[in-house]
Amino acid sequence: MTADRIIAGAPSNEDEPFETSLRPRHLDEYIGQDKVKDNLRIGIEAAKQRGDPLDHVLLYGPPGLGKTTLANIIASEMGVSVRTTSGPAIERPGDLAAILTNLQQDDVLFIDEVHRLARAVEEILYPAMEDWALDLVLGKGPGARSMRLALPRFTLIGATTRYAMMSPPLRDRFGSVFRLDFYNVEAVAKIVARSARILEVELDEEGTQEIAQRSRGTPRVANRLLKRVRDYAQVMADGRITVEVAHEALSRLEIDELGLDDVDHRVLTTIIDKFNGGPVGLDTIAAAISEEADTIMDVYEPYLLQLGFLQRTPRGRVVTKAAYEHLGVKPHARAPADQATLFE
Ligand code: ADE
Repeated sequence: MTADRIIAGAPSNEDEPFETSLRPRHLDEYIGQDKVKDNLRIGIEAAKQRGDPLDHVLLYGPPGLGKTTLANIIASEMGVSVRTTSGPAIERPGDLAAILTNLQQDDVLFIDEVHRLARAVEEILYPAMEDWALDLVLGKGPGARSMRLALPRFTLIGATTRYAMMSPPLRDRFGSVFRLDFYNVEAVAKIVARSARILEVELDEEGTQEIAQRSRGTPRVANRLLKRVRDYAQVMADGRITVEVAHEALSRLEIDELGLDDVDHRVLTTIIDKFNGGPVGLDTIAAAISEEADTIMDVYEPYLLQLGFLQRTPRGRVVTKAAYEHLGVKPHARAPADQATLFE
């Protein structure tokens, strides 16, 4: 596995049993995102008291922050089953109709990448979300008739990394919208310590901090790094994760002290070396480093923006002074007018 696969968004097959076993199953076990948890706790308690399903929930934010985990926790706290699918997997309106008619009363339907639903599929979802109804059109042309079928009551949980790409009518039908933020180092350290306990890996306090600091505020990355450091500790040391073991293992994976990997470094140095620090468009950057523009936008940019290493301007991406300092390079000489816009 290369370093960029460790950072990159989607869980690989290899990670699945690992991730499942490490996932918290109850809200009390879920570390961080305190405001989201507090609001969810109230909503869940209120819905349970009334005997209603929870209102539809939209979770958005960068990949790996626990949107799927939270959807499963909501279902388990409500005491219902969850049916999981994703926007691109539902190709036709009939596919969604089949899923909806097979739900049990009060179930959770989790749709990942909900911004990628086809428009015709979304149209089926609107009455389903509002009235638990399926509107069928029978026949074509002037003789066409429509028929309304009752659906079981359900809670839709949608997840997306691209809130802005969702159609406004879909966004508006979610009763609660929660944004997940990057975790602070303290919260990630707790997640690493918890995962190490479950995996029965011996890990000291400093080793925990070392992994947490390089996990870019993302539990999925933290769990993957823990797994790689565990491998290294097992083969190259005595199995225990100390700060030295963690440091050496992560340096070999080319993950720097802020968690930036080879791709992050290529994004920044390409903008600096080839485009004089920017501004430069995302597609140009993607072509220059042979990565998908979507991957850069969804997986790499959010953390670089959060660190303040990159800025999005109307004319394109600009590398900031903080990034130059982190990389240990000096800004290139450029025309005074440009210089002013660069670091103002
Ligand atoms: N694993 C992934 N996300 C987590 C979280 N927020 N808390 C605890 N364990 C996790």
